[in-house]
Amino acid sequence: MCPTRDARVSENSRKARRAKDAGDASGAIAEYLQRHEAKRLLRFITCGSVDDGKSTLIGRLLYDARALLDDQAAALFADGNRATANGDGIDFASLVDGLSAEREQGITIDVAYRYFDTDRRKFIVADCPGHEQYTRNMATGASTADLAIVLVDARKGLLTQTRRHSYILALLGIRHVVLAVNKMDLVDYRQDIFEAITSDYRQLAAQLGIDQVTGIPLSALDGDNVLEPSPHMPWYRGPMLLDHLETVVIESPDTAEGFRLPVQWVCRSNQDFRGFAGTLLAGSVAVGDAITVSPSGGASTVARIFSGDSEVTRAGSGQPVVLGLTDEIDIGRGDIICAANAPLAVADQFAANLLWMDQQPLLPGRPYWLKIGARTVGATITELKYQIDVNTQTHLAAKTLECNQVGYCNLYLNEPIGFQAFSDNRNLGGFILIDRQSNATVGAGTLDFALRRASNIRWQHVDVDKASRALIKHQRPRCLWFTGLSGAGKSTIANLVEKQLLAMGRHTYLLDGDNIRHGLNNDLGFTDEDRVENIRRVAEVARLMVDAGLVVLVSFISPFRAERKMARRMFAEGEFLEVFVDTSLSVAEQRDAKGLYAKARAGQLRNFTGIDSPYEVPEAPDMVLETCRHDAETLAAMLVRALDD
Ligand code: ADX
Repeated sequence: MCPTRDARVSENSRKARRAKDAGDASGAIAEYLQRHEAKRLLRFITCGSVDDGKSTLIGRLLYDARALLDDQAAALFADGNRATANGDGIDFASLVDGLSAEREQGITIDVAYRYFDTDRRKFIVADCPGHEQYTRNMATGASTADLAIVLVDARKGLLTQTRRHSYILALLGIRHVVLAVNKMDLVDYRQDIFEAITSDYRQLAAQLGIDQVTGIPLSALDGDNVLEPSPHMPWYRGPMLLDHLETVVIESPDTAEGFRLPVQWVCRSNQDFRGFAGTLLAGSVAVGDAITVSPSGGASTVARIFSGDSEVTRAGSGQPVVLGLTDEIDIGRGDIICAANAPLAVADQFAANLLWMDQQPLLPGRPYWLKIGARTVGATITELKYQIDVNTQTHLAAKTLECNQVGYCNLYLNEPIGFQAFSDNRNLGGFILIDRQSNATVGAGTLDFALRRASNIRWQHVDVDKASRALIKHQRPRCLWFTGLSGAGKSTIANLVEKQLLAMGRHTYLLDGDNIRHGLNNDLGFTDEDRVENIRRVAEVARLMVDAGLVVLVSFISPFRAERKMARRMFAEGEFLEVFVDTSLSVAEQRDAKGLYAKARAGQLRNFTGIDSPYEVPEAPDMVLETCRHDAETLAAMLVRALDD
């Protein structure tokens, strides 16, 4: 959907080559194309509320910059009188809004990218929907942009939406903002209104750390100050919008001293050559340069560099390359090859900003996937420090983040990664979080700093291992994980099973939800977040006990699939058995041994499983114990027999 710079450049190279082959006016065409290729690219995003005139502005830019195909322009005039009242009778918004209908139907488009160019520059504009529920799309568009046009309706000034968008722009590292004060025609082109809005915005930008703000008074509908100076606003002496976009200097925020090459893929063109492909992020690399690999720390020297179709001796930032090294060292997708004299820091715990983008709220303690560059690792939010009110920038106490909320958190990764703080490098410090079940992107964030260096905390080798501990107990350590509704019979059956195992000379321990909540987990209640943490802790304890060589019985409602899966992943193959104690809600409620269902129904107990808190039935349990068909003794005996087998 998004025409990348490389795609466009190679398309032009092909054209140039074809033109040359044809031998027609080859010199002039090739020269034109070369000039075109040399033009720098500006990626920008437009943000504004629904009626600020965003589509009209983009349409106007495309039209005035002559970036439309002939048939699009013709269609514009044909449709012209339909919707707008500008003098030309042209509906610029229709150019862009054709896509909105698709968007409404949820067919394809999250962010519409448009490509256009002028004599001086090439542009990719990300057009993101303005509604609040589309914040995630805005974040997607902003993540690769160099500059943002923030549209404000001159009649309305800054809105909540303006503040929210600006906060996200700042979060995603955008330092250049054009404040487009639109619809100046509707406020009689008044300078004082423009200046008041600009001054408000500068204040906001200063708080957010956006240091480059250019205010431009516009009427996108009439084209005032888009390409040509407005005859109605002689008081305005600043740049025209397009002029500014063509000339604004975007400095590289990358402060790295040496090159970084995040490895996108490893290619083997033949037996002898293994190349590492990716785009150089910073600095330049030359044949003979010493390199180090992050996070492994492996070292080697650059033997060959390929760029495009040819072999070169040097390549620079932004160039796609394939590197060959002098040594066979272990490098995979997601690793980062760096200049040896500028290695990356490696860590597995971070403080990070996080924008939540999913309808299901963030659950600290739940395992997600984190994707950073080409690397994907397991990740958990270990602590949500606070939520940020994006309108006032105040910090709010919070245990979770809802869709579109922003927070500051501690993050733990299952494996260390090479990184740079986002403020130093957007590519190496920006990440997304992915739900492990649905594979949906649920959050986007930026690494602030490492909480501890991976090298400072390592796994310590211990000589006595699980196998030897199990050997002297003459048993195979196991985790029997009982899950089911409250009152299903988990604890009763687990209790009987433990007695039978003990009688057989097994070394066991029973971890029971009610009991553990009196001690280790006495700080946890029954919200989703607390249940996730409850299960995380008990799974860790069970793992330690299995490591000690025991047969551990865990009897917790454990209502969520994600956490039961997490628990399973902590154990070796065959060591974890999910036992679903299957009792219908109506039967559990009838039994109601603790009287809790009655309280929940009477509204005296909130978040009760099965009543106003969900229970996710296991999809593939290792064993199902149907309490309606057999009594507890029979079920316990069945389980012990199955274990013995
Ligand atoms: S879990 O959902 O986090 O796994 P856990 O097994 O630790 O729950 O605790 C469940 C026990 O706590 C129940 O058997 C019941 O006795 C008690 N309890 C008290 N309040 C609730 C509630 N709101 N929902 C479920 N169980 C509750």
